[in-house]
Amino acid sequence: MEIGEVLITADEIDAKLAEMGAAITRDYQNKDLLLIGILKGAFVVMADLARHIDLPVEFDFMAVSSYGSATKTSGVVRILKDLDQEIAGRHVLIVEDIVDTGLTLNYLLKNLAVRKPASLGLAALLIKDGIDRPPLDMKYEGFHIPPKFVVGYGLDFDGKYRNLPYIAVVDDSI
Ligand code: IMP
Ligand code: MG
Repeated sequence: MEIGEVLITADEIDAKLAEMGAAITRDYQNKDLLLIGILKGAFVVMADLARHIDLPVEFDFMAVSSYGSATKTSGVVRILKDLDQEIAGRHVLIVEDIVDTGLTLNYLLKNLAVRKPASLGLAALLIKDGIDRPPLDMKYEGFHIPPKFVVGYGLDFDGKYRNLPYIAVVDDSI
């Protein structure tokens, strides 16, 4: 497998996260905000987005795994690590790296809604276009990208390339 075309540069990502962070800062004034990052992919977005939020936010993480091949989600989600804290009455914002089939977020939304947060929002850096998925109410979204497999900025192929500072397409000739 080879890294193909760079789709989104590090500077473009930073500018977008600054916009998203400013919007979050405006929207959650005087609210007690808890950011929930979905491991592993979202750890980079979480760290950089949070530093563009000018509020005393708290952090928690969930680790999920969706069964499937290296590049396709099956829709069956397994919780590998649950939240450390209760979220009843809290303003919660889920931070994701990418929305592909939307199955992971759909599962998480249902799972977290049962715990009765005061509000439950979604933020994702990347949304894949051209995918047939159930409607998702995204509160903050970064970039729409074509339905190709991408790596970098937290996203992996077979566990690797999460540390690339940009988003690149994986070459089709894998
Ligand atoms: P979904 O449930 O299909 O929306 O995708 C959930 C997870 O699959 C994401 O959080 C990513 O971890 C992974 N994923 C989806 N598309 C890609 C991709 O293009 N590159 C790397 N990981 C991806
Ligand atoms: Mg993954």
